[in-house]
Amino acid sequence: MRIILVGFGVVGQSFLRLLTLRYKELIQNYGLRPKIVAIADRGGAAINERGLDMERILQIKKRGSVSYDPDYGFPKLQAEEVIEKVDAEIVVEVTPTNIQDGEPGLTYIETGIKKGKHIITTNKGPLAVALPALTELADYNEVYLRFSGTVGGGTPILDLGRKCLIGNRVLSIKGILNGTTNYILTEMSEKGIEFDEALKMAQELGYAEKDPSLDVDGLDTACKLVIMANWIMGKKVTLKDVDIHGIRHITLKDLKDAEKKDCTIKLIGSIDKGLEVKPMEISKKDILCVPGTLNAVTFNTEFAGEETIIGRGAGGMETASAILRDLIDIKSNLSVRYI
Ligand code: HSE
Repeated sequence: MRIILVGFGVVGQSFLRLLTLRYKELIQNYGLRPKIVAIADRGGAAINERGLDMERILQIKKRGSVSYDPDYGFPKLQAEEVIEKVDAEIVVEVTPTNIQDGEPGLTYIETGIKKGKHIITTNKGPLAVALPALTELADYNEVYLRFSGTVGGGTPILDLGRKCLIGNRVLSIKGILNGTTNYILTEMSEKGIEFDEALKMAQELGYAEKDPSLDVDGLDTACKLVIMANWIMGKKVTLKDVDIHGIRHITLKDLKDAEKKDCTIKLIGSIDKGLEVKPMEISKKDILCVPGTLNAVTFNTEFAGEETIIGRGAGGMETASAILRDLIDIKSNLSVRYI
């Protein structure tokens, strides 16, 4: 399977590492021979229709851009042109999230779909602003659009809700969907520090998004709610439909007051009658009361009651494992389609 990789930061590089680690198993177990025919980053692109050497391109990237490749590099070549012109079955889009207008990821995804390429993305921006339209476009062009790494990193939250609970009906969803804010609230409560200090620690450890307001103002959680509402519950919603409150105003005193009742404060995203993100007091015995950077989501289902999934919601290799999951899923669907 020929793959174009758009974006070559932590997640893109982790994906390549994962492919080199799993290469033999992918062939043996799934008949999947991934071939990276192009990589586009901010500096340009590297293209080799016979497949780029993955170890070599990771070394070249250390110097700045894949376009520095002396044999296959194309400095300044735009990702859009690469997606349009290079022959491939799949586009893996892992550029940074922009929730204002979803760009440039939105254009990359639309271009790929219109060119008949299947899309795997870990970028929440395009989905938060245009998921209903993108799903329609993908259906019309008969390609798969997959994005399991956008919610929960490597933890298969979307797959649990959509695939494993198939035949059931998810009535409502609630949970902790942002590792950074969970880390901040946990540190405030356990170390007795104020919000600003805990945020600084989260930034130093690389948990927070480039723009931490995405995390602390609840926008990242809101994007994930939009993705779950569309994908799992069939609601045609976008970011505009979410009532969003962040955690900036939470003080150490608020947490201490909650503690007196054997409770704590968590940033909870919920989908019920509406979509809402807000800090809430929950019991320390609540199954959603997970520490550190963990995510935890409870699906309230029609016939199986409550089902909860807990796991690490971020990280390079974790998110790369979600891309690989999507790749195997697309390959399996295509095999069935052509039998
Ligand atoms: N900043 C996000 C988080 C990364 O803290 O959960 C994963 O989406």
